[in-house]
Amino acid sequence: MEFRTIIEPFRIHSVAPLRMTTPQQRREAVAAAGYNLFGLHSDDVMIDLLTDSGTGAMSRDQWAAIQHGDESYAGSPSFEIFRDAVQNLFPFKHVIPTHQGRAAEKILFTALGGSGKSFPNNTHFDTTRANVEYTGAEAVDLVIAEGRDPASLHPFKGNMDVAALDAFLHARKGSVPAVFVTLTNNSGGGQPVSLANLRQTSALCRQHGVPLFLDACRFAENGWFIREREPGQQDRTVADIVREMASLADGMTMSAKKDPMGNIGGWLALNDDALAEQCRNLLILTEGFPTYGGLAGRDLEALAQGLKEVVDHDYLRYRIRSTAYLGEALLKAGVPVMQPIGGHAVYLDARALLPHIDPLHYPGQALAVALYEAGGIRGCEIGTVMFGKQADGSERAAPMDLVRLAIPRRSYTQSHIDYVIEVCEHVAGNAKALRGYGIVAQPKQLRHFTARFAPLG
Ligand code: F0G
Repeated sequence: MEFRTIIEPFRIHSVAPLRMTTPQQRREAVAAAGYNLFGLHSDDVMIDLLTDSGTGAMSRDQWAAIQHGDESYAGSPSFEIFRDAVQNLFPFKHVIPTHQGRAAEKILFTALGGSGKSFPNNTHFDTTRANVEYTGAEAVDLVIAEGRDPASLHPFKGNMDVAALDAFLHARKGSVPAVFVTLTNNSGGGQPVSLANLRQTSALCRQHGVPLFLDACRFAENGWFIREREPGQQDRTVADIVREMASLADGMTMSAKKDPMGNIGGWLALNDDALAEQCRNLLILTEGFPTYGGLAGRDLEALAQGLKEVVDHDYLRYRIRSTAYLGEALLKAGVPVMQPIGGHAVYLDARALLPHIDPLHYPGQALAVALYEAGGIRGCEIGTVMFGKQADGSERAAPMDLVRLAIPRRSYTQSHIDYVIEVCEHVAGNAKALRGYGIVAQPKQLRHFTARFAPLG
């Protein structure tokens, strides 16, 4: 007899309190923050779904590993434990620790980028794009067409458009230092990339003599989707699938704040000796010596343990199922969400829910603020606030207006999620009453972090 309920494959060992707040307190807090949820004090948030990055709960064994950390400046055994755990899944020759993912990106693109260069990706994450563009290079998104359609049920909406990549590599011959694939495709809704697509992309890159890099933050979730959805993969372990993904690439950048279950950390790994040496020298400039690279020895040990835990099938079954549980309940209640449900987050389609709010009045912001005021839930607008401002200062509607509800790993229970469902249903039921926002102050770049808003009407 197999029972239907998939339970959390852990019991709670240490708890952090949630401060209960009233709608009145939350209305005051969000008004004081200029209606920007990044400006809230986290004590004023009850269910924090702003990000799954660095917000997960570490295990008993990770906390024990912290005690084993060796803080030697050079040659720490904690580095060896970390490196071995990384290479067990990603057998690249050189493993270079960094304090988080964007530090690995900064180092790699400093070495490879520059004006006239182009980096294709299925979809660049915003820090990846920013680090590419900072060097003067161009960041190009070549995800398949289904990946841009919120309603398409394609099982691997993160796939690279291989024909478009082929044409691009022909057209830009000699000016593409590397191709990237983001696993899972965060900016495209947490959608996975198939092994078949990765094999084709890899073969194409080898044919063109261009190295392939993985932005592998959510590699284990992507591996689980492959095991579940891709023909012929059902009998493999996720660890084995991940090793094949790595074998198809020449290197990777990584935020260890996601699947490796860390609160901080990242790395750059690659096979090319000369490039690795150049990157290590850059690492010493901004991060630290190559055996710690911006992390403490104890962090390296916690990550090594996290890498073992994240490929556990009971964990992954629960993880992917619990995200789908939220998404499916919202769909059933008629709340428009991006489909299929991704690995780490549910994306609410604010433009579909709030057709009466013009995209330039930020329906995603209106929905995110309403969820906070109604239930103390903090999500993240991914739409015209984040992407609408153009380089020339003008403003344009983003392709979609979404609110991401990202699920921190192992942090919230099913009743927390049931509460989120109830609040979303309530807010969606009052959708017609929601009003748009105007921006009253904003910085030149990355305005979503610090802009201040005022409600319209
Ligand atoms: N690549 C992807 C696909 C990411 O999702 C992130 C971070 C990074 C790179 C950068 O890593 O934060 O360690 O420097 N994503 C977080 C998010 C912030 O909320 O999705 P980092």
